[in-house]
Amino acid sequence: AHKPRVFSGIQPSGGLTLGNYLGALKRFAAFQGTGPETIYCLVDLHALTVWQDPALLADRTREAAAAFMAAGVDPKQSILFNQSQVPAHAELAWLFNTVARLGWMNRMTQFKDKAGKNSENVSLGLYAYPALMAADILAYHGTLVPVGEDQKQHVELTRDIAAKFNHDYGTEFFPSPEPLIEGAATRVMSLRDGSKKMSKSDPSDASRINLTDDADAISQKIRKARTDAEPLPGRMSDLAARPEARNLVNIYAALTDETPDAVLARFEGQGFGAFKPALSEVAVATLGPITRRMQEYLADPAEIDRILGDGAMRADAIAHPIVEETKAIMGL
Ligand code: ADP
Ligand code: NA
Repeated sequence: AHKPRVFSGIQPSGGLTLGNYLGALKRFAAFQGTGPETIYCLVDLHALTVWQDPALLADRTREAAAAFMAAGVDPKQSILFNQSQVPAHAELAWLFNTVARLGWMNRMTQFKDKAGKNSENVSLGLYAYPALMAADILAYHGTLVPVGEDQKQHVELTRDIAAKFNHDYGTEFFPSPEPLIEGAATRVMSLRDGSKKMSKSDPSDASRINLTDDADAISQKIRKARTDAEPLPGRMSDLAARPEARNLVNIYAALTDETPDAVLARFEGQGFGAFKPALSEVAVATLGPITRRMQEYLADPAEIDRILGDGAMRADAIAHPIVEETKAIMGL
């Protein structure tokens, strides 16, 4: 049996959003001290699957590291590091490229979304991304993977790779990691379009709340968020056909650690003229201190580099022997 170990990551491909905070960072911090070891990775090799300006990537990685720590990930309690500093990820990804099947990759909806109609001209890395993600998790024998809804299919593919490897080589070497997708914010939606997820790569800045937004920007984006004109009902089940309203209530609930129904019980019968300012208030109260702590960390980039270097050494000490054993199992 494999001992429980939490692993997850975020791409340092731009400023992190409220979606990354509620769907990922806040939950990463909450796993600390609950028993299993917690390992969190800035997945810069994944970021390279779409063009990254080399002059900006290192700063974006530091900014993401600052966001992790500002959101409560403690680099002493957890291992916090940068993917490209630990060779095991790329090495195991190649080994998994030989295990994963083309047909599995062809079913990945995120590739189809990101490649769009131009799929002949995207990088091979974008296509192979899920095998690298499997390597990220399995290089640590990760068993618990807190992610947002959009990553569920990739964690399932990781399970398929682990199962096929174990079957083909007659071993139980790799665990079958579980995606942990919980709470009201598993899929925070765009503030401009209730059918799209909030993302750092959305061209519209008004669609998202960035962790670096100040109180005025947060309030203005929430005030302008697309909604309908109906008052709020008393229960979430009555919001089934109102995605924008549902999204704002889910965000409120995730910020205050309440259930969406508990939030609605207080706002029943009120319109967005009352709900939006209340939401702004809880968003600013939560994000304001995070933004300030991020600025404090970013004032000392050398210290961030030191923390990431230390994390990489600790990560390598776990991952290197696992990759060596994988190679031995495969006859290398
Ligand atoms: P992005 O999609 O913003 O580029 P990543 O792909 O780096 O972010 O995802 C990092 C983590 O944040 C993943 O666990 C992902 O599921 C989560 N996440 C990203 N966007 C959202 C969102 N809108 N709602 C909830 N979780 C999200
Ligand atoms: Na994503």
